[in-house]
Amino acid sequence: MGQSETKSSRKGAKKRSGNRPSRGSASKKKGNRLADTLDRHVLYQFAVQGVEAEIDFIDETYHTLRGTFPKLLREDFCGTAHTACEFVNRRPDNRAIGVDIDGPTLDWGRENNVSQLTSDGVKRIELLQHDVMTVKTEPADVIMAMNFSYFLWRTRDELRNYFKQVRSALKDDGIVVLDCYGGSESYQEITDTKEVEPDDGITPDFDYIWEQEKYNPITGEMRCRIHFKFADKSKMKDAFIYEWRMWTLPELREVLIEAGFKSATVYWEGTDEDDPEEGNGEFTPTLEGDADPAWVCYLVAEK
Ligand SMILES: C[S@@+](CC[C@H](N)C(=O)[O-])C[C@H]1O[C@@H](n2cnc3c(N)ncnc32)[C@H](O)[C@@H]1O
Repeated sequence: MGQSETKSSRKGAKKRSGNRPSRGSASKKKGNRLADTLDRHVLYQFAVQGVEAEIDFIDETYHTLRGTFPKLLREDFCGTAHTACEFVNRRPDNRAIGVDIDGPTLDWGRENNVSQLTSDGVKRIELLQHDVMTVKTEPADVIMAMNFSYFLWRTRDELRNYFKQVRSALKDDGIVVLDCYGGSESYQEITDTKEVEPDDGITPDFDYIWEQEKYNPITGEMRCRIHFKFADKSKMKDAFIYEWRMWTLPELREVLIEAGFKSATVYWEGTDEDDPEEGNGEFTPTLEGDADPAWVCYLVAEK
């Protein structure tokens, strides 16, 4: 569905879009307003997700580490299973299991994403309504959790327990792939607006508004909200709300090792040659990052 080629991020990390005025004007009469007619999951998929780039990263990383491509992917916190569907589409022997606790979101994914797969593809994906902390699934080559979903764990014990569950659900040579968000701006109570231009020929351009509403430096807890704004000036407020703990990379790497993983490697994004404020979409393993004010990276742990 036309995501960006690079790692997309909820905040537009490494992208300095700034606030933009919305365009045009139209009737604000309730019912005619774009905010009342558009679907928040469609808007989220265009604004936030970068499923092609995520599966590219998983394929390339797994291939580098294991010399072959993964065949069974489990997507934790899968939401609408957009990424799991992308994986199933890649190769005819790929299979995916998506796990999410929210039934209506999974139903939306079945109706709008799974239904777009071939009849054979539909047979190669399974969506489970379950808590990722307790779900039991067949051993996977890769387990992924994207868009910082595991930030919902508030304590080291919860985080370690989750990582232990994930480890036990992997094949012996399996890997877990997470993304992470950080940098000085990630602790600020700020709002970032990005213009999104969907390429499906149906969804109109819109503004994606990422609000870091409240950060508590004592607990590390952050409340974030996603809003969407449209050319007719109507707004979909609080389309999504998240309550997170802002985990840091050193904490995450330590807890992954405590959970039994034999490695926990950060893949850091390179810088665009023409624009030092932009990432170039290339993530490489490293022990040294730069003090970017808002970064998104991948974290890969081997069982
Ligand atoms: C931020 S969305 C992630 C959607 C998608 N993975 C992505 O990359 O954009 C977080 C999802 O986690 C789900 N979720 C929250 N707690 C969960 C839990 N304990 N077990 C499984 N899913 C959970 C929510 O229902 C929601 O769909």
